[in-house]
Amino acid sequence: MEKIIVNGGNRLKGEVSVSGAKNAAVAILPAVLLCDEICRIENVPSISDVNVIVRILYELGASVKVIDNSTVEIDPSGINSFMLPASMSTKMRASSYFIGAMLGRFNRAKVAPPGGCDFGVRPIDQHIKGFETLGATVTIDGGMVNAYAKELIGGSVYLDKVSVGATVNIMLAAVKAKGLTVIENAAREPHIVDLANFLNSMGADIMGAGTNVIKIRGVNYLHSTTYSIIPDQIEAGTYMIAAAITGGELLIKNVIPKHLESISAKLEEVGATIEEFDEAVRVKMDGRPKCCNVLTMPHPGFPTDMQPQMTTLLALADGVSIMTEGVWDNRFKYVDQLTLMGAKVKVDGKVAVITGVEFLSAAPVRATDLRAGAAMILAGLAADGQTEIDNIEFIDRGYDNIVEKLSAVGADIKRREFIDPNERRAAI
Ligand code: EPZ
Repeated sequence: MEKIIVNGGNRLKGEVSVSGAKNAAVAILPAVLLCDEICRIENVPSISDVNVIVRILYELGASVKVIDNSTVEIDPSGINSFMLPASMSTKMRASSYFIGAMLGRFNRAKVAPPGGCDFGVRPIDQHIKGFETLGATVTIDGGMVNAYAKELIGGSVYLDKVSVGATVNIMLAAVKAKGLTVIENAAREPHIVDLANFLNSMGADIMGAGTNVIKIRGVNYLHSTTYSIIPDQIEAGTYMIAAAITGGELLIKNVIPKHLESISAKLEEVGATIEEFDEAVRVKMDGRPKCCNVLTMPHPGFPTDMQPQMTTLLALADGVSIMTEGVWDNRFKYVDQLTLMGAKVKVDGKVAVITGVEFLSAAPVRATDLRAGAAMILAGLAADGQTEIDNIEFIDRGYDNIVEKLSAVGADIKRREFIDPNERRAAI
């Protein structure tokens, strides 16, 4: 199996270019199902979650042309199945978007419940509430989510919780429903806006994306489009923290600074210098970060997907910081790994008290989920010695060429193949 090996202590200097947004790509690609012609999607990140979705579209009968490593052309006309077996759907959370997309196209969907990072319970009750508002009957039996509607008719749904997934899924089911659908208490993340812009580029009629009220007027036909996915806010934020945690200076290119506002504000609070350009941010850090308190919230709050990375930076801060997880029930599983490297973090439910230490020391650690894996890399960049990171398949789900991008700006980081002793025995 592969591990990532990081020899810490290098200050990162240079330029990093951010890829397309994972959480936009995994919503836009299933949405192609709703198109009546061919779609060309550009700035697609080269990550395993995207590869899985493209594979699913192909297995469902779409014809997929890979133009280059960030551009695909998809003709969904050959898709005639509304079923997604567990073998395809349990690999990630975003497979749940096939329920909304298939419902929107076939008035039917039979999808095994989605997988995704383990942050405790990840229900889809708000997704189902939305589908039922549109007139669908949804049952969960035999380990499958079954949705059926004689006809989808627009309606108003008030989300009990701000949910990215439910907002995406209801939008997908509503885009060809009869009449007007209103989603209230909708998620406002940049990837929600990107999905709405993609659908509108095909002739959909969606207004208000990016606010907490989204209105979707159903249309009958979606024509072809060429659409470029927005840059990844969380990938960009991860490299911003890489600059800060190594006391370096990075110009992070191909970003939308507005999407990074809450991250920039927190990094300035701990002493980093942030310079904004039209499509780039420069992050510079001299000396040790100051402590600060962080509460993760739905956009435009501090993103929960930046929580492990920020906690890792604060583990080295001068003073005590409080990290409060405002979105997920249990998103501190990685703290045990950070503690192996000398961090002093006390977790009580959704709150972590972080007592900054002057140094982290290298240790063999593992990625417990996608963003936690990125946090282990950040800890390794700052730690004394050689850190070995296992379970790196989590990292490859959401970071495009992270080893290459970091080594290009001075990190001593590489992938190494390890033969598991059990595998060795089996091989003999
Ligand atoms: C999306 O997950 C992202 N994944 C997550 O990013 C991200 O952490 C999350 O949004 C919050 O921003 C993708 O976009 C593929 P939610 P999602 O529905 O849609 C509760 C990453 O690292 N809830 O916004 O699953 C839920 O339990 C990943 O890129 C319900 O109660 O998140 C949570 O407490 C990790 N009922 C809260 O809402 C529902 O029906 C927010 O969940 C749905 C959600």
